[in-house]
Amino acid sequence: MIDFKAQAEELRDELVTRRRDLHMHPELAFEEFRTAGIVADELRQLGLEVQTGVGKTGVVAILEGAQDGPTVLVRADMDALPILEENTFEYKSTVPGKMHACGHDGHTTIGLGVAKLLSKYRDEIAGRVKFVFQPAEETVGGAKAMVADGVLENPHPDLTLGLHLWNSMPLGKLGVGEGPVMAGASIFTIKIAGKGGHAALPNAGVDPIACAAQMISALQTVVSRNIDPMESAVISVTRVQAGTAYNIIPQDAELWGTIRTFKIEVRDLVERRMREITEGIAQAMGCTATLVIEDGTLPVHNDPKITERTRAVLSQYVGEDGLLKDERTMGAEDVGFLMDDIPGMYFFVGASVPSPDGQYYGHHHPRFDFDENALPLSVALMASAVADYVIPSSNS
Ligand code: NI
Repeated sequence: MIDFKAQAEELRDELVTRRRDLHMHPELAFEEFRTAGIVADELRQLGLEVQTGVGKTGVVAILEGAQDGPTVLVRADMDALPILEENTFEYKSTVPGKMHACGHDGHTTIGLGVAKLLSKYRDEIAGRVKFVFQPAEETVGGAKAMVADGVLENPHPDLTLGLHLWNSMPLGKLGVGEGPVMAGASIFTIKIAGKGGHAALPNAGVDPIACAAQMISALQTVVSRNIDPMESAVISVTRVQAGTAYNIIPQDAELWGTIRTFKIEVRDLVERRMREITEGIAQAMGCTATLVIEDGTLPVHNDPKITERTRAVLSQYVGEDGLLKDERTMGAEDVGFLMDDIPGMYFFVGASVPSPDGQYYGHHHPRFDFDENALPLSVALMASAVADYVIPSSNS
């Protein structure tokens, strides 16, 4: 049995130093040039075959084993967020308005740590590990761009593994749900055209605001009246735009919002009902309406067999009590594009950290931080999870 825990612990200082360096130099979606450079250099030093510029700023590296076997894709995301950091620690962001506020600095660090540990076992690996350092997760363009550039070919992965540091759970807890664990997200725009006029003479016009109000109310009934109560869906109208003055009925109104679902069939039902509602209400109110839905991410679906097998490996680190098997979120992740038709597992690593003022600051908050003890733990978890598939003797 390979003691990845002890080996990851030996990397602790290196992991913390790297994470802090990345934290100080955050880069937004598709601008991860410095980060990608560090990643590529490190992977080359480990002797891996490295490809850069995959999906603009993505990096792919293959660790080829001595014998043939399955290909395991390990995914880490690299991008930061357009947030002005409010933390005061010495490794806070040096770039005003940019911040690693989701933990992707940690994910990049962990991915490199896993590559370092596993590259020592090249002679024992049956198969290969495909390390994917992805840009632009936050804007949901990175995974798609990498897929378009062929990240899923030559070789095609047999399974995908990924993790997210999760600062709403304590260290030692792992979110290891099976089935859908993160939602697919779509955005929508509804353009409503009426007939403008004097607000004192509403009968002479067609009021798009009254129509928009009916639509907003009716859209709330899709989740409450059309979706099976045992399923999950969210429709949020997040922006309402119309009008310019107290005494003018405007010509147009516009609604924006987001849709979150765990299943494609639920997503399809939501879309059908939204079309019926917007068209039906517009017609009844004398307006015309155009609904445009743009798909952002696919639901992240954990394959039951892989989840069961990998949970057994992960439980060696946190015990059965540490495995939270029902952890799911309506948050979205574009790793779903790297798991579409490829079985895999995406899990959450508890990394909550008390802030100096005793408040909790979640992901995407200007004071977000995570417990750096989760770095060596995550390296060991992922290395063991991968080794279970490609190093026959790793867990025996
Ligand atoms: Ni994230």
